[in-house]
Amino acid sequence: MDEAFNQAKQRVDELITILDRYSYEYYVLDQPTIADSEYDKLYQELLKLEEAYPTLVQQNSPTQRVGGTLLPGFEKVEHDLPMLSLDNAFDLEGLRAFDQRVRQLVDGEVEYQCELKMDGLAVSLKYEEGRLMQAVTRGDGRVGENVTGNVRTIKAVPLTLKQPVTIEARGEIYMPKSSFIKLNSDREEQGEDVFANPRNAAAGTLRNLDPRVTASRNLNIFLYSMVQYGTLEIETQSQALSTLNDLGLRTNPERAVFQSIEDVWSYVEEYQEKRANLPYEIDGIVIKVNHFDRQEQAGYTVKAPRWAIAYKFPAEESRTVVNEIEWSVGRTGVVTPTAIMNPVQLAGTTVQRASLHNVDLIKERDIRLHDTVFVRKAGDIIPEVIRVDFEARPENSEPCQIPTHCPACSSELVHLEDEVALRCVNPKCPAQAKERLIHFVSRNAMNIDGLGEKIVIQLFERQLVKDVSDLYGLTKEQLMTLDKIADKSADNLLQSIEASKTNSLERLLFGLGIKHVGSKAARLLAEKYETIDTLKTAELEDIQSIEGIGEIIAESVAAFFELEAANELISKLKSFGVNTTYTGVKPEERSTVESVFNGKTVVITGKLEHFKRNELKESLTLLGANVTGSISKNTDILIAGADAGSKLTKAQELDIPIWNEEQLLEEIPD
Ligand code: IVH
Repeated sequence: MDEAFNQAKQRVDELITILDRYSYEYYVLDQPTIADSEYDKLYQELLKLEEAYPTLVQQNSPTQRVGGTLLPGFEKVEHDLPMLSLDNAFDLEGLRAFDQRVRQLVDGEVEYQCELKMDGLAVSLKYEEGRLMQAVTRGDGRVGENVTGNVRTIKAVPLTLKQPVTIEARGEIYMPKSSFIKLNSDREEQGEDVFANPRNAAAGTLRNLDPRVTASRNLNIFLYSMVQYGTLEIETQSQALSTLNDLGLRTNPERAVFQSIEDVWSYVEEYQEKRANLPYEIDGIVIKVNHFDRQEQAGYTVKAPRWAIAYKFPAEESRTVVNEIEWSVGRTGVVTPTAIMNPVQLAGTTVQRASLHNVDLIKERDIRLHDTVFVRKAGDIIPEVIRVDFEARPENSEPCQIPTHCPACSSELVHLEDEVALRCVNPKCPAQAKERLIHFVSRNAMNIDGLGEKIVIQLFERQLVKDVSDLYGLTKEQLMTLDKIADKSADNLLQSIEASKTNSLERLLFGLGIKHVGSKAARLLAEKYETIDTLKTAELEDIQSIEGIGEIIAESVAAFFELEAANELISKLKSFGVNTTYTGVKPEERSTVESVFNGKTVVITGKLEHFKRNELKESLTLLGANVTGSISKNTDILIAGADAGSKLTKAQELDIPIWNEEQLLEEIPD
């Protein structure tokens, strides 16, 4: 028995070594030396031995990459050394300025290492005596998430290094373009949401609580730095990268060292061209002072090293043809043009529509039907027509017809005062009424669960609901006449409609769609006046004196309550039992407990598991946060649930701290 055990033990060790080598050749070097079937045979042999002798199962065995169970969440881990970000440059001037600064700070010659700036997400890997111990995301730079379980499933990450060294290496996890396209097309087929770009897909995959999901998608990694190198002697960045490589870690072979910033610029230009043909997305070139002693001389700011800079490529542009201009009516009557174009790939997604915003923009950019145009994603993800390719303008290009009448109700359109917008001012315009309904039930307004846009449109088109108050008179029989609504879903809908009656006043105020009153203004008004009747009788000056409410909002509120139709609507809502008082905590009663959210601007995105989004919003507000809907440089924290999309991307770009639910739970217990 002992003999057999010893033999098995020896063979297990052997198999792990052989399989690791093949894996390295396949995933890191991209140069497999054996057939997949051969690998599988050896893997099966190892699996059988481990089954027969469970005590021989080693943590670093290739069979142990995927743990079978769901993770409860990601633990927060403080980085030994913060994961800094990089300053950006956008042109040659910016690079020259960087070069000058560096040369002033550093003695002697300076050499630059250029690397591709991978568009993925940063992780830090800790190896102790050659064993992978921990993988942590960047997080806010100081504290990240422990994603070891998921990172272990990435085949390019060795569980054992080629030498028993203790190091910390950092790099970028990404999803190759081809895997991203495949993943999205699978998801589309399954009726699931698609990811906006490979980076979001990588982030969603790495932060998935089921390591089997991570394992099933093709994530990859390039290591780009070593921050702790134990006993290794390393003097330059290029040496660090080749050492990482020698240890079995994957580094990007596309890198080069230059002596002058002009040569760096040529490299930048070269990759600007090559970029589209790379198998992964990059968003720039990172330029680093090569020698560590000179890096030290250059030093750091609080946020970023002075010895490195990221040159960011300009936003990607694509060319396509405008086939049609669609005009749609919003809830306030604004009529907006949208360009419908030949589908085109742009920065990782297919683009077919782009808002043209208003008539002036069409005129300014002289956009005509059949024109070839350049599109790009404005700032983050919103497709935008930037200019016409006039040289490609065909003979048959037609100036677009600016509508004179509402596409929905045919009443004459107007330009109000100095507005650029074309407006339908018919208060009975069905398109507006429909949009108002959609707004009323939406998440930040009355939040009527299950009452999606499609149902609202049916209710409206079948004339079961004409204005928002009619929602409260709907019967089960009526609901069951709708497409795809059966007994149970009708009951659920009725229940959600009923539940919305008890909403606090600010939701109703926002839901009513009073011009200029967003959810924040609605909350301020509700807090101050507490009932809709008090608000109705409030003096204009009094409303205006609320901090955060300006003249425009105040006048709009006053004008709204003078409308007969508005008052009738409010009476009808009341008669159905819809609450019109503020039921939240009054500002003066708010707990004065120290909260990390106090005074912070917070954005929430993605699917949350532990919190209902609206309740979370309320809790954060109570803790003193200002919860807003879009990311800007003023955002302090982004709370990102699963499958977060463009907001996550933008927050990452702006280096805004990103929190997950686990972090939240520590601050806001359930
Ligand atoms: S070096 C202290 N090298 O870009 C410098 N970063 O804002 C640490 N990135 O979060 C970064 N490719 O995720 C470095 N070759 C590369 C990179 C790279 C992508 C990302 C990284 C970081 C961000 C910098």
